[in-house]
Amino acid sequence: MTDKNRVFIFDTTLRDGEQSPGATMSHAEKLEIAAMLDEMGVDIIEAGFPIASEGDFAAVSEIAKQSQNSVICGLARAQLPDIDRCWEAVKHARRPRIHTFIGTSPLHRAIPNLDMDQMAERIEQTVSHARNLCDNVQWSPMDATRTEHDYLCRVVEIAIKAGATTINIPDTVGYTAPRESADLIRMLLERVPGADEIIFATHCHNDLGMATANSLAAVEAGARQIECTINGLGERAGNTALEEVVMALRVRHDIMPFDTGIDTTKIMNLSRRVAQVSGFPVQFNKAIVGKNAFLHESGIHQDGVLKNVETFEIMRPADIGLNETNIAMGKHSGRAALRAKLKDLGYEVGDNQLKDIFVRFKALADRKKEVYDEDIVALVQDAAANTGDDHLQVKHLKVVCGSDGQSADLTMIVDGEEKTVHATGDGPVDACFNAVKQIFPHNARLQLYQVHAVTEGTDAQATVSVRMEEDGRIVNGQSADTDTILASVKAYVGALNHLIVRRAQLGRDDKQISMYSH
Ligand code: KIV
Ligand code: ZN
Repeated sequence: MTDKNRVFIFDTTLRDGEQSPGATMSHAEKLEIAAMLDEMGVDIIEAGFPIASEGDFAAVSEIAKQSQNSVICGLARAQLPDIDRCWEAVKHARRPRIHTFIGTSPLHRAIPNLDMDQMAERIEQTVSHARNLCDNVQWSPMDATRTEHDYLCRVVEIAIKAGATTINIPDTVGYTAPRESADLIRMLLERVPGADEIIFATHCHNDLGMATANSLAAVEAGARQIECTINGLGERAGNTALEEVVMALRVRHDIMPFDTGIDTTKIMNLSRRVAQVSGFPVQFNKAIVGKNAFLHESGIHQDGVLKNVETFEIMRPADIGLNETNIAMGKHSGRAALRAKLKDLGYEVGDNQLKDIFVRFKALADRKKEVYDEDIVALVQDAAANTGDDHLQVKHLKVVCGSDGQSADLTMIVDGEEKTVHATGDGPVDACFNAVKQIFPHNARLQLYQVHAVTEGTDAQATVSVRMEEDGRIVNGQSADTDTILASVKAYVGALNHLIVRRAQLGRDDKQISMYSH
């Protein structure tokens, strides 16, 4: 590998991904995802937008402190106090970076009401300021793909002269197409003095479904940093998906001879964890990480794969950390077998965690004949989401359901005190949710209630996701159980527990920040 063919992976799951309405993650979840990204070999982690809220600032600072190898980057608008705040958060990192941006297209220039010269001056001033604080500075002309070419060249040159070490070219609204994405990078490399001294990054959104293709085209034209998120998480149709660009570069190395530093075997685990903590499940037919991505249902395909896997598989499940031998475990499987299975699935657990998961595994194996890998993943995720030391805990649930009506008798522990109620509703889930609301009255609005079967069969576990909103604060809850109604109640209660934590942090995590620099 020659260095000139090394492509840096810049992950923005915790900033652009988390900006997606409803994808809010807790402080602990952000730290956990950042540690996983660092371990996977992501070159740069964009950890948040420190000026946006106290919560964002705290998360970026902590991620900076815990980082091992990755560069830790924070976002800042083109304003000196934003940049100072960003530096205060990222400076703890072994390798900090400040990323500052301003919208340069005519539509974006009109909002802060700056003319071309005034904006150019602002760019010079803010990039220089960032560079005086930190020797690793990234600058982005937001909506670059709709910015006049001459003006784009002019401002990129100013940013480079002011000290930017990476210039990111965002396709903010997912408007560009592969040929144009490549042409833009080529033009900048040809026309801007000093362009060969810095790294060009590509940052694509997926509004027209072309984010991966646009990112790869930019790399072929000379960009050497791809900005992306796990599962393509992000506002609207999302950002470029990390797993897609990384696997495309690996599988088609013959025609795209570029390398990343990503340990691809960690992809699946990260994908599952991001789906869980963000409350955004991965679509079944999603490239690389979808549940069906390696399934061969049709007879012709199965026959071919059995004779030679390469007939219908261009990559192996193991390449992304998917275990190929989905051997079922049962109630006679012991603790050592469970530990080995967890390791296979990418989970390194401590002794206490193993003890807890083992108890849950035994309970599941008693109810379900065969426990598959997906069941174990759901179990681990449930254990992580519902730790048992929350304000609200479900103690006992009895549901009556049938043509004569539906009702629920629910006992919960509320901050140590036991409460029991009886409630009715339009269906068993509604009756249970009414019971929870009697015990813990609230005005939060249910935004999402979603149920998925983990495996086939009527004894399958159900994973349930619940999303709720109160005064602009969005929280998620997840749970898994063979009892769909119980999983629903636990997911609902999980969301309420997050809400209680968010209320206690009142103001700390609130983000109502405009992307414009006035
Ligand atoms: O899409 C975009 O333009 C961004 C910038 C803030 C880089 O996310
Ligand atoms: Zn973006």
